[in-house]
Formats: sequence, C-alpha cells, structure tokens
Amino acid sequence: MSFNPLKEKGISLDKQLRTWHDIAHRKFNKNEINCYSRTRQILMNGIEVEAWNFKHNLSRICNHEDTLEFLAQTKRLEDAQQTTINWLAPCDQSVLETTLGYEQVAVDLTAWLAQNEPDKYVKETYDFGLLEDFDHLYRYSQWAYMIHGISPNNIVQEQTDVVFGRPTQYHHNCNIIRLRKPYDKTQTSPQTKVNILTLVSGEQQTHNYYGEHGFAYGNECLRETYASIKDVEEEHVTMYESLIDPTESLYEKLLLHEFTEVCNYQNCVKDEKDPVLMQIWEEFLAFEIGHLHVAAELFKKYEKRDPEEVIGDTVFDTCHFTSQKEYVTQTLENEIDKRLGTNKNYAKIKDLPEDWASYHIQSTVSKDGDPTEVTIRTIAEQKKRDIVFADEKLKANLPKLLEKGLQEKGTSPDTVTVEEYKKMSKEEFLM
Ligand SMILES: [Fe+2]
Ligand SMILES: [Fe+2]
Ligand SMILES: [Fe+2]
Ligand SMILES: [Fe+2]
Repeated sequence: MSFNPLKEKGISLDKQLRTWHDIAHRKFNKNEINCYSRTRQILMNGIEVEAWNFKHNLSRICNHEDTLEFLAQTKRLEDAQQTTINWLAPCDQSVLETTLGYEQVAVDLTAWLAQNEPDKYVKETYDFGLLEDFDHLYRYSQWAYMIHGISPNNIVQEQTDVVFGRPTQYHHNCNIIRLRKPYDKTQTSPQTKVNILTLVSGEQQTHNYYGEHGFAYGNECLRETYASIKDVEEEHVTMYESLIDPTESLYEKLLLHEFTEVCNYQNCVKDEKDPVLMQIWEEFLAFEIGHLHVAAELFKKYEKRDPEEVIGDTVFDTCHFTSQKEYVTQTLENEIDKRLGTNKNYAKIKDLPEDWASYHIQSTVSKDGDPTEVTIRTIAEQKKRDIVFADEKLKANLPKLLEKGLQEKGTSPDTVTVEEYKKMSKEEFLM
C-alpha cells in the first residue's frame, strides 16, 4: 500500500503523550523473535536516535519561536519512541547477541538498498560498505561462540551467511578519502535521500552501541575487536553522510527526517508478523504522520515552497528485510579486492598508488597486531577452524577469495595467511 503522507490524518502531537507503562513494558523473547523483527527493532531504534539528535542540533541554531516549540515537543516524543523500541530487547539478550543483530541489519539492509537504489554512484557506495559489515558479522560470530557458546544462527536464523568479507583490518582508511561526492538536491529523487538517511541512522546507532557496550567483556582481544569495528562504523557514518547534499536547508532536512521516519514505519507495518511489534509500528506511523504535518507547515511558512518538491507525494520502501545471500555472494566475489580510490572513486588493490593514504592508517593502528585477525587465530586454536555458514560452492571458493582480498602493504603481521586458511577450511567445526 502506497500513500501520500501529507494527505493522511495521522495522530496530532497533543495525543502522543504516553504512560511509563506504555513506554516501557513491552519486550520480545529472544528465542522466539523472528530475526527480521529483531532487525526492524534495531533499525527503528537508530532512526529514532537520529530524529532526536537532529532536533537537538537544530534547536541550538534555530531562532524561529514556533519551530523551537515544535522541536521541544517532539524531542520528548521521539525520545519516548526510542525507549519503547530499544527496550523491546530483553535483558537476557547478551551484548554479542545484540551485536550480531546489528550486523545483520547492516548486511541485509545495505544489500536491499543497493538493489533498489536509482543513483548508480550511491549504489556503488552501498556495495562497498556491504562487504565490510558482512565481515564484521563473521568476526563477531566467532566471539559469540567463544564467549557464550552459541551459534550465530541463533540470531541470524540462517537468513544471512557467516563468512569473511573484505577483511576488517582493511576497513581502516584515511577518513578523508572516505568522503564521497554528494548528490544534487535538485536532481535527486526523494527515495535516494530517504535511503541514505536510513542507512546513516543505522550505522550511527551501530557505532554508538559498540561505543556504549564494547567494554562489557573482559577479554582483551574482544575489547580491541569492538574498538576496531566501532572505528569502522565511524568511517561508515562519515562515508554515507557525505553523500548528502550539504546545501539542503534546515527545514528541508527537518522534512526529510520526519518523512524518513514515516517511510520506515510504513515498511515495518507492511512486513511485520509479530503482533506486539505490529501494534507499535502502526501507532508510531500515525505519530510520524502527525510530526510530518507540522514540519510541512513550517517548511511552507519559512521556505514558501511546496513540501512535495522535496519529499514527493508517496512513501517508499526502505527497510524491507529479506535474505540477501545471493547478492552478497556475488558482491563478495566481484569486489573483495576493491578499495577507496583517491578521487572519491574506487580502485582495485593492484591499482592503488604506493603512497595511498590508508596504508599509513592501517600500518599504524595494527602495529601491535590486528585483533580481528587474532580472533580467527584464537578460534582456530580452540576448534581447529573458524565458524562459517554458507553454501558449499562459496565455502570451496574461500581460500581463493581470501587471496584476492589480501593486500601486500598495510597488512598486520599476524594476519591469517592463505595457506593457513586452506588448512583450516579442511577441518570440520564441531559445535
Ligand atoms: Fe520518531
Ligand atoms: Fe559493521
Ligand atoms: Fe557499518
Ligand atoms: Fe518524528
């Protein structure tokens, strides 16, 4: 069902105040929840954090009294929505279990967006980021087993493969070359704008989660793994947000934030099977339509333009979660040796210049060893090999893919070699 949110009634702001019980009492069962209900919960938490955060930033630089009043009212409402959604996660869901959920969001969302993105350059950027989060899922999966004795499939439920991607040690780039070319706000479709804002919100919240929880474990190598991947998520936020046209006005941005919330909740409503979550998505969709109406009125008043010039007249599919194994495998096979170019483009390892700026970053941060490589060495010591979930064809191709993905420069001395990996992959992993 597609609709024009500006023509829907929604729920007005004065009817959005809820009780503590309503805000905080719902939670899911971690053993029963569908993995894609969990990914929706994780993503929508990120969307709400971004909405709240953006409004605070806007409040600090805005001098229109009516806008400040709208922001003051809705900051509390966005915040309460965030509490309801984030606290759906039960207290017995461990940090690593939640982490696997976060990376499943990144993989399956990015892969879906890449295939539904009208802008080719933006799509290429999604494909690039995809292989990084895919590798994070693999590294964390080893820890979920080593620390909690669980299979990653308890969380990803066989919908997402667990295999290395572009190795994490190579995700550390000079953050200047992470910067991408921004879209042109006058030429770009609202869908591209909403897609980017959705992914930025997800990546930002992933970064925040690792920052707030990575120290929950005493294991030194796991702490460093969280620190390393948190840094990559920082790079992801930098990369994806740089796609946004910086000349968008503040009211345009406000409108796009509310519209992004509407689109994402609409998607949740379309896909959800869990009755408890469904009730939340339906209610919050109506809330967001209420927010959007006010944002649209403010936009008309201060910009003297029609909001449809920015957001169009229909909601989009954004967070449609479904298994993406085939697409990810194909991207992995084609792009494991892809790196950031020096001109806001992309390059293959063999074409990188000797003085490629990221070499310096990579060799500096892994001077004392790379924790994400040590992760694989540690599990191989205990179980003779790493945990991998993929079809046999992909599994058989892994040593070759690893060879393609390794760099000569900027590689940590404790990196698992192709020979070591070949040997390891002949072993069977016994849970
Ligand atoms: Fe919200
Ligand atoms: Fe990630
Ligand atoms: Fe990421
Ligand atoms: Fe909102």
